[in-house]
Amino acid sequence: MEFPYTVRGLGGEGYISRWDAQSLKKLSPEEHANLKSIVSTLGKRSAAAQGLGAPITDVYRLQGTDQRLYMYASRGPGSTTIVLGGIKMGKKKLFIRKPENAVLHELEPLCVLDFYVHESCQRQGVGRQLFEAVLAAERQCAAGLAYDRPSPKLLAFLKKHYGLADYVPQNNNFVIYNKYYDIVGSSS
Ligand code: ACO
Repeated sequence: MEFPYTVRGLGGEGYISRWDAQSLKKLSPEEHANLKSIVSTLGKRSAAAQGLGAPITDVYRLQGTDQRLYMYASRGPGSTTIVLGGIKMGKKKLFIRKPENAVLHELEPLCVLDFYVHESCQRQGVGRQLFEAVLAAERQCAAGLAYDRPSPKLLAFLKKHYGLADYVPQNNNFVIYNKYYDIVGSSS
């Protein structure tokens, strides 16, 4: 996704940046408008790739919540920005059935809410680089997260790179792998 402008803090070779309510406040009105347009395009493309009825990522959701968006972007020729993908993270209160019984438990895990890599660079390791940067920034491991309605591509990604496969299907379509309870503890 190429944009005919730059935003301070976004881009640079292999550069992954984090955007949340605080960092958005530091932008000038022009930078804010440019970032809003970039995030809107990213959100729309991600929704289309996942077959969602509407985008779930835009700057308003970053401004009004504790959600944060990590973007993988580089600078293109002239004053352009090329965005390769993004991951939106945030906590959610969830009712979850654990592996050992059918009782619903309330958890508040950190969740992968939206994950998208542009079609031109999927299956080239971009998603892995982005996800590893998010894990480091959030001080998490892949099994310690919940995944909101993961697509078949994301399920394959998590199995291939992190050996994650076993989970109890939930009515809310979030996936919490059984290994989560080894990491976080079964009381969590
Ligand atoms: N079919 C099956 N598996 C795939 C596909 C695909 N088309 N694309 C990626 N994968 C999985 C495979 O395990 C693949 O390994 P392989 O090529 O050896 O089979 C592995 O991911 C590749 O790893 P990366 O190159 O690091 O991943 P990529 O850069 O492609 O990013 C992502 C993965 C984010 C799932 C990307 O494919 C994408 O954006 N897909 C479209 C949108 C989407 O489905 N997003 C997840 C929605 S769910 C949510 O956001 C919580």
